[in-house]
Amino acid sequence: MLPTIKWEDDKIIMVDQRKLPAEEVYIKCLDYTQVAEAIETMVIRGAPAIGVAAAFGVALGVKQISDRDDLDAEFARVYRRLERTRPTARNLFWALEQMNAVYKSSRCLTLPALKQKLIDKALTIEKEDISRCRKIGSWGKSLLKKGQTILTHCNAGALATAGYGTALGVIRAAFDEYEGITVYAGETRPFLQGARLTCWELTKDNIPVTLITDNMAGCLMRRGEISVVVTGADRIASNGDTANKIGTYSLAVLAQENNIPMYIAAPLNTVDFSLSSGEQIPIEERDADEVRKICGCDITLPDIKVRNPSFDVTPAEYISAIITECGIAYPTYKDSLEKFR
Ligand code: MRU
Repeated sequence: MLPTIKWEDDKIIMVDQRKLPAEEVYIKCLDYTQVAEAIETMVIRGAPAIGVAAAFGVALGVKQISDRDDLDAEFARVYRRLERTRPTARNLFWALEQMNAVYKSSRCLTLPALKQKLIDKALTIEKEDISRCRKIGSWGKSLLKKGQTILTHCNAGALATAGYGTALGVIRAAFDEYEGITVYAGETRPFLQGARLTCWELTKDNIPVTLITDNMAGCLMRRGEISVVVTGADRIASNGDTANKIGTYSLAVLAQENNIPMYIAAPLNTVDFSLSSGEQIPIEERDADEVRKICGCDITLPDIKVRNPSFDVTPAEYISAIITECGIAYPTYKDSLEKFR
């Protein structure tokens, strides 16, 4: 399986996802500020993966505290730095809350014992993320069948999680079970996670994948070339409205228009039960140059006005089912998701 992120000798090692697929380069984070920068600059991305990175970041930040008198202030500093890296993915905040709970219940221990507790918790978050993805895959494959062509968007694979993936977990499980599973990957402008990461990951696993530009999806759906759409999620409101990579909403509308099922695959820690609807989900706006350039090359006027919302919200009525590690939720999501809580 792909090594997205790992804890090794009190360092955090991550594959630099900005460089894939041209180069497979690994970076080492030696302190929590480097972890925060890695999340902000997309060295590591994908909701569950940034949650795991943040948990390791907390463990590393506390590991480097030498004076017990500074403990609470230092913990708060580490927590706040990691918390402001990216606003949309629920998994980041979930992981930080998990680390905070361990900190609170263990802060009276000796400093070495507290440090070890936090490292152990981060390792557990990593391990459990992979097992959640495998369960999502196992549930999700029951919605698919032999010979289907699955359209996915962005990268919701091993690279976006601790391993195996959510949407790509469903695809991996279906590919192992049924003959003739093929994938269309939307390129996912502006950051090209589909073209760069999903195509790379699936090709490594010998899963047949065809790259399309984002604006080709409607045409292919209308021609009957797409059986089903499966994507991941960054944050799901309690009513099922789902924030995911920009372009997901357009695919969902096109899927409904063409009578194609639209499935969201995500662990329950992506669900924000405190939000009643998707309107409350904070949407990250990223740097304008991501749109003005492709792989560092200008594609427009250098100072052209740009919008760059990184995510959109797909209203629940466009989503056929939400595949979680606890089972498949169907509308009405307020009730079905609540049952899995
Ligand atoms: O900006 P990114 O690359 O972090 O966005 C990632 C996505 O939108 C994924 O689809 C989502 O995080 C689910 S990953 C299992």
